[in-house]
Parts: sequence; C-alpha cells; structure tokens
Amino acid sequence: MAKKILVTGGMGYIGSHTVVELLQHGYEVVIADNLCNSNFAVLDNIETITQKRPVFYCIDVCDKAAVSSLFEEEEPFDAVIHFAAHKAVAESVQKPLKYFKNNMLSLINLLECMLVAGCSNIVFSSSATVYGDPDELPVKETTSFKKSLSAYGSTKQMAEDILEKTVVADNVKAISLRYFNPAGAHESALIGELPLGTPNNLMPFITQTAIGKIKQLTVYGNDYDTADGSCIRDYIHVVDLAKAHVKSCERMIENKMGAGYEVFNIGTGVGFSVLELINSFEKENNVQLNYTIGPRRAGDAAAIYADVSKANTVLQWKTEKNIVDMVKDSWRWEMKLHNAIPVKTD
Ligand code: NAD
Ligand code: WQD
Repeated sequence: MAKKILVTGGMGYIGSHTVVELLQHGYEVVIADNLCNSNFAVLDNIETITQKRPVFYCIDVCDKAAVSSLFEEEEPFDAVIHFAAHKAVAESVQKPLKYFKNNMLSLINLLECMLVAGCSNIVFSSSATVYGDPDELPVKETTSFKKSLSAYGSTKQMAEDILEKTVVADNVKAISLRYFNPAGAHESALIGELPLGTPNNLMPFITQTAIGKIKQLTVYGNDYDTADGSCIRDYIHVVDLAKAHVKSCERMIENKMGAGYEVFNIGTGVGFSVLELINSFEKENNVQLNYTIGPRRAGDAAAIYADVSKANTVLQWKTEKNIVDMVKDSWRWEMKLHNAIPVKTD
C-alpha cells in the first residue's frame, strides 16, 4: 500500500516541488496549507505535472482543532513534512511576534497531534540561517550556532531544540534538513516561487529585474574578503532539495535512522558569489541585467557554504542539478509567470 505523507505548507515554493517528487515516487499526499503565501492554482499545476491530485486542506496549522480534525479524518500518516512557516528574515525583525507565533505554534500543534495519532516521523524545514556567520567553512552539521539576529532565525533554532527534546521524551523521530539557498523552479515551469510583493531572495530579485518588474538590482557590497568582493552562498536547485525530503521519508519509514533525531545540511557544497550568479544568469539566458554595486546589507555573512558529506553518505542523497539549471529554470519560470501562459497565479 502507498505510504501516506502529510505535507504542511505543501502549496508553497519548496513544498509544492516536494509534493511533486513524493507523488512521482508513489507516495500518497495530503496537503495542509492556509494559502497565506501561495494560491489554490498550485494544486492544479501539481496535478498537471504528476497526473495525480493530492488531498488539500485549506487550514491554518496554528489552529489546533483544525489540525486535530485533519488527523482524525486522514490518519494514519507514515510521516509528516513540516514546511508551513513565515520565512521573510527582514520582516521577522520588524514583526517578531508574528514569526514566533506562526512558526512555533504550528510545530507544537503538529507534534501534539502526531503524538495523539501515533504518527512518529517528522521531517522539518530548518535553514542554514541557524549557523549565522559561521566560524568554519564549509559549514558542518556540528558547527556551532550563533545567536540569531532575526526572529526568523530564532524560530529555526528553537524548533530544532523542540524536536531534539521531544524525540528524547516521546515516541517521535525527527529529521531536520538545513537548507542553504534554494533557487530554480520545476523544469515544466508550472510551479516555482511566487514572491508576494518585494522578493526575499537574490534569485527572484534577478529574474524580476530581468523581466523589468524591478528597475535595478543592487549587489549588496563588493568589498568582502572574497575573490570578486561579493558574498558567497551555496545555491541549491529546489528539485534537488525536494528529493532530499523523499530520501528523509524513506529513511524514517524504513527504520534506517541511526538516532531518534538527525540533522543534515542540504546544499551543493559549492559556493557562488553574487556576481558569479549574475554573470551566469546573463550568459546562460542571453539577457542583460541592470545592476549596480551598493553598500553591504546589515547582517550578511561574507561566505557560507555547506559540507554535504553527511547527506551524501548517510542520507544517500546528492545534487543532480547545477547553477546553469538554476538560472535557466528560474528565468523560464519568471517568463511563464509574466506571460501568464498556462500557469494560473490567482
Ligand atoms: P513558502 O512561503 O513558499 O511556503 C510556505 C507555505 O506555508 C505557504 O504555502 C504558506 O501559505 C504556508 N503557511 C505558512 N504558515 C502557515 C500556517 N500557519 N498554516 C498553514 N499554512 C501555512 O516558503 P518556502 O520557501 O517554500 O519555505 C518552506 C519552508 O522552508 C519554511 O519553513 C521556510 O522557513 C524553510 N526555508 C526556506 C528557505 C528559502 O529560502 N525559501 C530556506 C531555508 C528554509
Ligand atoms: C543571497 C546573497 C545578499 C538580494 C536568506 C535567509 C536564509 C535562507 C535563505 C530561509 C547575499 C545578496 C541579495 C539583493 C544582493 N532563508 N543579495 N542583492 O541572506 O543568504 O539567506 O535566504 O531560511 O535564512 O537569511 O539569501 O537571497 O537574501 O541573499 O546582493 O537584492 O545575495 O547580500 O549575499 P541569504 P538572499
């Protein structure tokens, strides 16, 4: 019988790509999402790609009664993947309580409902943000955390702590995946990132500048101690990232975990600078970007990239796509959004 996975935030950027991979690997999927940062059309587009339509509950995971009813109606689940969260770092500095409330309450509700239902496997969306400005490169899972500068970062650090302690006390196993910098879109250009208002991340800034939605892209600093002076990050294709969740579910369901709580860095292991990403985008897509060099952005680390050896060997996962795929797929998605071809965005 098909294994059944509950995916919170499954209509969002990373969640929708993961749902596609799960369905294509034979899993049954139930999505819980309140559409606060996504829209209903994503479900149609998931169905177009996979020829399967996941069950969808439009609920707020902070609403305990709603989550409880979902479990009663849909259990048993073999695993839960918890994506649902707010994710804008800058907004979290302005509105910390919005972030603490949504990101912590959703996790606690989910864990409580899992315990009642006897569901013992959870995969959690953590982030490289837990490391802050790291003391060592590449960053290992054992690299120590720095005190977070944003409420968003604090929610990821606290969530990992909650999971680690719950695993010790209760009959739950958890895998935290620390994503580095997700980019790209599905090759079909039917799903991708849908930034509401000003984008949060570099790649949508690049594509929106290329399409003319944003007048000019600013490179935040070219005076860092890096080869070209701009910051270095570990950009990972969202489809590779999605596949890491399938591997994590397999590992939990097949009882292959070495400990009750495991953590994996999910990146490529290779850093690219902002200027390298811009150059690659221009070259591969044959477009010119209007960009300027601006001052540093407060809180940015000069360089951060992952040691992915643990994910490669233990999780048996490795990336299949590269920076060329990321810049091409991101651009194809932006053009499709702009021309509103078959992608419904409302
Ligand atoms: P996203 O905003 O595209 O997706 C999140 C989804 O969760 C959205 O569909 C939103 O409607 C839903 N949601 C939010 N709060 C909810 C709630 N209380 N109840 C129900 N649904 C809710 O974000 P994403 O980029 O896909 O990120 C997914 C996860 O990965 C988040 O936990 C995020 O913090 C984490 N993450 C993202 C990045 C990144 O750069 N995109 C990097 C590291 C970690
Ligand atoms: C990447 C690089 C900027 C925009 C954030 C979160 C992290 C995780 C991933 C959720 C940096 C530079 C950016 C622009 C620029 N998200 N940049 N001009 O800051 O590495 O990580 O997203 O968990 O938690 O902090 O990503 O995409 O904002 O920036 O020069 O207009 O691009 O300075 O070097 P970041 P980013």
